[in-house]
Amino acid sequence: MNKDQKNIDNQILTGKTLLLRVDLNVPVIDGKVQDDTRIKSVIPSIKHIIKKGGNVVLCSHFGRPKGEMDTKYTLKPMSEILSKALGGYVDFSSNCIGEEAIEKKKALKEGDILLLENLRFHKSEEKNEKEFSKQLAASCDLFVNDAFSCSHRDHASITGVTKFLPSFFGMHLQKEIEALDKVLEKPKRPVVAVVGGSKVSTKIDIISNLIEKMDFIIIGGAMANTFLAAEGNKLGKSLYEKDVLQIAHKILNKGKINNCKFILPEDVVVSKKLEISGKTYNVDVNKIPEEMMALDIGVKSIKKIKKIVDECKTLLWNGPLGAFEIKPFDKGTNEIAKIVSMNTKHKKLVSVAGGGDTISALNNAEVTNDFTYVSTAGGAFLEWLEGKELPGISALHNQRLKI
Ligand code: 3PG
Repeated sequence: MNKDQKNIDNQILTGKTLLLRVDLNVPVIDGKVQDDTRIKSVIPSIKHIIKKGGNVVLCSHFGRPKGEMDTKYTLKPMSEILSKALGGYVDFSSNCIGEEAIEKKKALKEGDILLLENLRFHKSEEKNEKEFSKQLAASCDLFVNDAFSCSHRDHASITGVTKFLPSFFGMHLQKEIEALDKVLEKPKRPVVAVVGGSKVSTKIDIISNLIEKMDFIIIGGAMANTFLAAEGNKLGKSLYEKDVLQIAHKILNKGKINNCKFILPEDVVVSKKLEISGKTYNVDVNKIPEEMMALDIGVKSIKKIKKIVDECKTLLWNGPLGAFEIKPFDKGTNEIAKIVSMNTKHKKLVSVAGGGDTISALNNAEVTNDFTYVSTAGGAFLEWLEGKELPGISALHNQRLKI
């Protein structure tokens, strides 16, 4: 990325109105925000714009209201939450386009902040309709994308508006890309990926892409069962995907050709049921009893993985290594997370994690803050791991203004 061209550091912002795409799609239960990481992440860009004399029009989606107005998904409460976080008033427009939005945008003075209502109350947002993009861009001077986690969406507020406004990378977006580049594009070697979760079928593209970039891939979670079955192990009642055994084989072979070493569990923790405090046994993977299922990696596997992590300088983590939601099957994930955390703290390791269940698993291990970088992106993180170009990022790089 040519930083000078694409970020707002060198832009004169005094008196300018910046349309800032953020991701306020946060988990909320009974009106209470459960995790405010995404809210915190947009504060630096907002403060920067204000400090440079600009004013800010914030836009975001919230949930999936499918193009209909639905009070359950209103962003109105977010204006108060943001006001508190920023220590200043954040105004709200009850529609992201139309008269009210335009009037409020026009009335903005230096340092003012306006939040627009949920973009997805209009079908045109997801359909990326030109007229809608134009209306979003109306009365704004520049566009800033600060939502990596939405940049896999080819939507009006992500790519459409870049046709109507000079567009830039936000501070959070830039930080996210730089952190991700550190593990995939320019890692210090040896580099290892920890890939867990339940299904190989959902991560075939990710693993195939990682094979070409990693020195080691550690496989855990129920998806490890599929690889173990592909190698001829009898897995008792363990979950695995019978229909992707051949693909699992091909993946392991591709690893050999590319000098990427796959680390599968040597032993596992088994139990008759997935339940708290059920009776558990640690067995080798070729000795899983018929009536039992594998629910976590075993002690020998933990020891082996720790040794590999210890040898590596860069680590990427996506997905838990066992059924971490139910104790004691969080032990494998927790132990590996702790050594990653320790080595990161001692500056021996650059560690980046993200996607789906990963953050919950790292929160459970109480190490999330110790990683070098934890991405709040779900789908966007996974598409990036697959090696796909994200439309939101390409739109900023290859901007073609239509005005
Ligand atoms: C996310 O939560 O991953 C982003 O906000 C994107 O949401 P979406 O999957 O509904 O587009």
